[in-house]
Amino acid sequence: MILSDIGPVLLVGAGKMGLSLARGWIEGGLPPSALVLVDPTASDDAKSFSAKHGVRLQLSPEGVLTHVLVLAVKPQIISSVMVEVEPVVGPHTLVLSIAAGISLAQLSEGLGTKRIVRTMPNTPAQLGKGITGAVPLSISDADHDVVDALLSAVGAVEWFAEESAIDGVTAVSGSGPAYVFYMVEALAAAAEQQGFDPEQAMRLARATIIGAAALLDADPAPASQLRKNVTSPNGTTAAALEVLMGPDGLAPVLAKAVAAARRRSEELGKR
Ligand SMILES: NC(=O)c1ccc[n+]([C@@H]2O[C@H](COP(=O)([O-])OP(=O)(O)OC[C@H]3O[C@@H](n4cnc5c(N)ncnc54)[C@H](OP(=O)(O)O)[C@@H]3O)[C@@H](O)[C@H]2O)c1
Repeated sequence: MILSDIGPVLLVGAGKMGLSLARGWIEGGLPPSALVLVDPTASDDAKSFSAKHGVRLQLSPEGVLTHVLVLAVKPQIISSVMVEVEPVVGPHTLVLSIAAGISLAQLSEGLGTKRIVRTMPNTPAQLGKGITGAVPLSISDADHDVVDALLSAVGAVEWFAEESAIDGVTAVSGSGPAYVFYMVEALAAAAEQQGFDPEQAMRLARATIIGAAALLDADPAPASQLRKNVTSPNGTTAAALEVLMGPDGLAPVLAKAVAAARRRSEELGKR
């Protein structure tokens, strides 16, 4: 499925995530005339995106014919947004939601359809380097291809059969970018302990994480292989990895952190 075959797409919520998706779609070949943005309080970013690409931006979904409805608003307002969009949803509509914590059952009840995919993207989608977890309710193979094409415009896509996977995806890749940013902070703090001034320490840590991520991006080899490639026996890296890979090392801490994020995601989903 290619993006030029998809549409009309109605994107409700032209915020950070919604605009990242919209940018990816237009750059990926979705014709601007096949996209309508709805946001009653559109930001300057949304207005300039609309003006630059000739994409319609309107205050409400009223009167829009939509084959794909994308919900990209905050979970707190999803109920009222569903009331607003429900009149334009019919058997012809495929729904894609990125609203965190809003279940397939809630979406189905609010919109009166089962043609729904619930997803959890992450912020590197802004650069086309995201990864999104997707769970369908009741969709056709063609629907699957449409959603896959829309999500692939901003990065990788992983499909799951069970809705509970969304809590795990949230804990690993949804929240994950923050773990990596914290690694930069922690590495910079360790560098300061070695006597570097704070600015130098941060420059060393930041460039190291960016560089390592770029290597990982450029090389299809497993991360473990890339690690071994830079670890000579009895060398300096081996000395550090003995600590990092030890019983009190990084793996058990990350496992605890991810489990805590998952529990929180489950709690938030019950509200
Ligand atoms: N950011 C992330 O990392 C991330 C990752 C995965 C999933 N998500 C999910 O993606 C969704 C959007 O997040 P975001 O970070 O993009 O939020 P955001 O920047 O606040 O975007 C939401 C947009 O929807 C607008 N809006 C408010 N009421 C509306 C209405 N009735 N109709 C249409 N649009 C309306 C908001 O306007 P106002 O600002 O004026 O309210 C805002 O521009 C959330 O459910 C979030 O959980 C986000």
